[in-house]
Amino acid sequence: MKITYLGHAALGIEVDGKYLIVDPYISANPKAAHINIQNLKADFILVTHAHGDHVLDVEAIAKNTGALIVSNAEIADYYAKKGFNSHGMNHGGSWNFDFGTVKYVNAIHSSAFPDGTYGGNPGGFVLESEHKNIYIAGDTALTYDMKLIPLRTTLDLAILPIGSNYTMDVDDAITASDFVECDKILGYHYDTFGYIEIDHAEAKKKFFDAGKDLMLLPIGDSIDL
Ligand code: NI
Ligand code: MN
Repeated sequence: MKITYLGHAALGIEVDGKYLIVDPYISANPKAAHINIQNLKADFILVTHAHGDHVLDVEAIAKNTGALIVSNAEIADYYAKKGFNSHGMNHGGSWNFDFGTVKYVNAIHSSAFPDGTYGGNPGGFVLESEHKNIYIAGDTALTYDMKLIPLRTTLDLAILPIGSNYTMDVDDAITASDFVECDKILGYHYDTFGYIEIDHAEAKKKFFDAGKDLMLLPIGDSIDL
């Protein structure tokens, strides 16, 4: 599995020959100006919730690629009504796609489209593939529900928001990584806006001191799991 950080909460995931894009907010992110969404490959677009900083480029990428949009039922319906292919899920449910199994899990946050349309309840994804399992938390507070994830899934990577203000901060993300029982963390949802700027060295040191590895990737860089 190859994971590319596309800035903010946007990810590219290559798994078993399939391409996934998660929460694309790229074309309006000046820090991601070197990423051209026209060049992104996508078989699937996973959307955690309906906020603009997660859905901005969903339609453009879906138009370009014909990708299947996977999200909660309300977000899937929103895109289906616009003529896109979508697959609606709800919390606690899983579906076997041809790249692996996706489970939609709880997030403590809110969810409305920029036009005011209700966006269902926000979530995150647990992705189980043949060789590696990852948790994409989405925008969320620290929640005890995270403790349910390792009951079913042994994670190889937890992708956690760390920017505070709208989501968990670094300290809560360390606790979250305890809850999901994963010591390898990719941080996201930081630095994009003024409210969520973080001190990288301090964040990494806090995770290191807790016996964990926090990765903060330059936008466009990838890790292989
Ligand atoms: Ni949000
Ligand atoms: Mn957000």
